Amino acid sequence: MKIAVTGKGGVGKSTVTGLLARALAAEGWQVMAIDADPDANLASAIGLPADRLADLKPISKMVDLAKERTGADGAGNHFILNPKVDDIPDGFSVDHAGVKLLRMGTVDHAGTGCVCPEHALIRTLLRHILTRRREAVLIDMEAGIEHFGRGTVENVDLLVIVVEPGSRSFQTATQIETLARELGIANLAFVANKVDSAEDEAFVLENTAGRELLAVFPLDPQVQAADRRGQSFYDHPGGPARAAELACALQKRLEVQGV
Ligand SMILES: Nc1ncnc2c1ncn2[C@@H]1O[C@H](COP(=O)(O)OP(=O)(O)OP(=O)(O)O)[C@@H](O)[C@H]1O
Ligand SMILES: [Mg+2]
Repeated sequence: MKIAVTGKGGVGKSTVTGLLARALAAEGWQVMAIDADPDANLASAIGLPADRLADLKPISKMVDLAKERTGADGAGNHFILNPKVDDIPDGFSVDHAGVKLLRMGTVDHAGTGCVCPEHALIRTLLRHILTRRREAVLIDMEAGIEHFGRGTVENVDLLVIVVEPGSRSFQTATQIETLARELGIANLAFVANKVDSAEDEAFVLENTAGRELLAVFPLDPQVQAADRRGQSFYDHPGGPARAAELACALQKRLEVQGV
């Protein structure tokens, strides 16, 4: 299964991605979690100890690797656009609790026209992971919509849009839906996060009417407590049960389409 998690800034994308990764790994899936947000923080949501963060270097900053793989000359004028990448997912990821974590760094920005060896490497790598690897792949996306680049998220089985009970997160969700459809991504589902009252729930239900709501996740002080310590909610009371619920909803959704 190949999932991308998206939504407005701060809604809980990394929290949701981290929990899904841990729950799927606990169920026996091979899991690859990809931090595609330049402001990377998926590692702590997965529970990677702080002293191992330094091992997780962004692929986009591996200038020498990009040059070597794309054959770029010093000026970056001539290079191949489909470099060898098949050893990168295993060679450059960090393992924690059954999850292989890979940090992309800055990914292709749609419309900027930037083509450089690093972008060629990242684009090819993402496409390779989404089309050739057989494990559960979860991508924690950058907030918002600007980064929806060609050749990357089109290959996911499901785009999960995280929303919170507030109209701004739904405005972003609507823009994401429009762009996703333009890119040919037909499978979209919502996760409502930080739901804290009957009013919140009513708001979410009203605004997801006619859309697919995968799960409703409550506002939970334990999530914040885990975050304050730079830890995963999965390693705190209630975390594994919540994560399993989320993973179960996701798998049910995907079984329907036979992924
Ligand atoms: N269900 C929840 N209950 C309480 N706090 C939550 C919940 N989900 C997320 N949070 C908190 O909200 C903040 C943002 O969460 P997170 O980093 O997962 O969001 P994000 O969408 O990945 O943000 P960004 O756009 O900055 O990448 C964090 O402080 C996190 O602890
Ligand atoms: Mg995040």
